[in-house]
Amino acid sequence: MGTSLRKIVFPTAGMGTRFLPATKATPKEMLTIVDKPLIQYGVEEALAAGMGEIVMVTGRGKRSIEDHFDISAELEANLHAAGKSALYKTVSRVARMADVAYIRQKQPLGLGHAVLCAAPWVGDECFGVSLADELILSEGKTAMQQLRDVHEQTGASVIGLASVPDNEVSRYGIVKARDENGLLRLEDMIEKPSVDEAPSNLAMIGRYIFTPRLFELLKTTNPGAGGEIQLTDAMCQLAKEEPVYGVVIEGQRFDAGNPYGFLLANATLGLQHPKHGESLRAALKSLL
Ligand code: UTP
Repeated sequence: MGTSLRKIVFPTAGMGTRFLPATKATPKEMLTIVDKPLIQYGVEEALAAGMGEIVMVTGRGKRSIEDHFDISAELEANLHAAGKSALYKTVSRVARMADVAYIRQKQPLGLGHAVLCAAPWVGDECFGVSLADELILSEGKTAMQQLRDVHEQTGASVIGLASVPDNEVSRYGIVKARDENGLLRLEDMIEKPSVDEAPSNLAMIGRYIFTPRLFELLKTTNPGAGGEIQLTDAMCQLAKEEPVYGVVIEGQRFDAGNPYGFLLANATLGLQHPKHGESLRAALKSLL
C-alpha cells in the first residue's frame, strides 16, 4: 500500500527546562552537535524520507529557528565575495533545503496541543511528527524512513521505539505491544510509568507517523499531567480505534535535550568528524 506522505510537524515550542540556562534565550533545537543545530539534523532526516513539507510549531524566543532556514543575503554575499565557496555552499544550501512553514503555539500547553496547532496546515492527510532533540544516527535508512516503510505497508499510524533499561522507563512513554504477522501492534501507552507499572521496556523516542484521526482525538483530549494536553493520551485512544504499529528504530540515539545526551552526541560525532576527529581523539585520550 503506497502513500503520498509528504508533511511533517516539528514541535519546537517547549521550554527546554532540562537544559537551562543554555535554553533561556536559545531554543534547545538550535543547540549544535559539532557544527550543525539539532533541528537541521531533524530536517535532513525528514527530507531523506521524502517528507519535504515541513511545519515548525514555535513559541516565543524561537526566531533563530526561522532565521536558520531563511536566506541570509548579506552573509551569502560576503562569503561569495571573500571566495569562501565551501562555506557559501553550506549556508545557501540550508536556506534552500526545504519549504518551512511556522505556526505559533501561544502558550506551552503540551506536546499534544503543539501537534494540534498544526492541524489546519496538515489537513486531512497522514503526517509525520519529529522531536528534534532526539538525535538518531542511522547507518542505513533514517529513522523516519524506517517508520515510513511500515506506514507504506499498512497505511496506519507508526511510532518509533527503542528498548530502554529498567532505570530509564520512568522518563519515557512506554508501550504495550503484541506481535501481529511480524509487525508490532501497539495496544496501550503509558506516560512515564514506574518500573512496576511499565508494560514493557519499549519507549517512544520522538518519531511518529499519524493518520489525521489523531487531530480529532486531540481536540477532545483533556489536559492531563501538569495541565498539558498529552500526545500519549490521544495516541492511546487512537490505538483503541484503529491499528497503530511500533518500529524499534535501528540507529544510535541521543537524548540531546539534556546536557549528558548532548555531550555524548558531540563526542560521538566529533570523533567521526573528518577534520577534527583525529585531534579530538588525541585530546580526549590525554584528558583521560
Ligand atoms: P519536552 O517534554 O522535551 O519538553 O517536549 P521541553 O519543554 O521541550 O523540555 P524540558 O523537558 O522542559 O527540558 C517534547 C517536545 O514537545 C515540544 C518541545 O519543544 C519538544 O520538542 N513541546 C512541548 C511543544 O512544542 N510545546 C509544548 O507545550 C510542550
